[in-house]
Amino acid sequence: MACRAQPRRAVTATGGSLDPDGPMAVLITGGATGIGRAIADAFLAEGRAVHICDIDGAAVEAYVDSHPKASGTQADAANIVQVDGVFDDLLTRYGALDVLVNNVGIAGPTAAVEDIEPEDWDRTIAIDLNAQFYFTRRACRCCGRPVAARSSTSLRALRLPGVRCARRMSRANGR
Ligand SMILES: NC(=O)c1ccc[n+]([C@@H]2O[C@H](COP(=O)([O-])OP(=O)(O)OC[C@H]3O[C@@H](n4cnc5c(N)ncnc54)[C@H](O)[C@@H]3O)[C@@H](O)[C@H]2O)c1
Repeated sequence: MACRAQPRRAVTATGGSLDPDGPMAVLITGGATGIGRAIADAFLAEGRAVHICDIDGAAVEAYVDSHPKASGTQADAANIVQVDGVFDDLLTRYGALDVLVNNVGIAGPTAAVEDIEPEDWDRTIAIDLNAQFYFTRRACRCCGRPVAARSSTSLRALRLPGVRCARRMSRANGR
């Protein structure tokens, strides 16, 4: 069965690729607002090459406009075709990925179980589980063994310089 790519929009500030020996490339999912945005800011402040992805296209555009050194892709992290589009944009621009911050996640429905709609349950699983798998799988396939962060590890990135945080995560992963 033919598969059509979902529409997506790449937002880049300056275009082109960085020197392979240049700054560490970091991908942050759900990076246009909230905790993801703070993580993106922290890595940018260290001079890292930051690419964000977010389902909110206007927020991606606003972030890249206000952070000219960053780039971003509007994408639903739970859509595997759109996740591929994120990696296409990132690899075209930076050629490699060193750190994946699997930040995206939603709280999901808060109701008695008998009142939760199956589609709300499915959407929560898709974002909180499937998306993590899609990004980690692509990152490992194209970039060897990048550092992957999630949840409380991501929160630590707010308090630690990115490199130290990455090294700590590497040690935690036995690398
Ligand atoms: N905020 C908290 O108190 C808290 C506590 C513990 C863990 N967390 C976790 O930390 C992470 C970030 O939390 P937050 O409060 O900044 O989140 P948030 O709800 O503010 O969302 C951050 C960003 O994710 C984007 N997003 C949502 N669904 C998306 C999708 N399907 N694809 C791509 N982007 C999507 C949103 O547009 C938003 O820009 C989440 O995984 C959350 O579960 C948050």
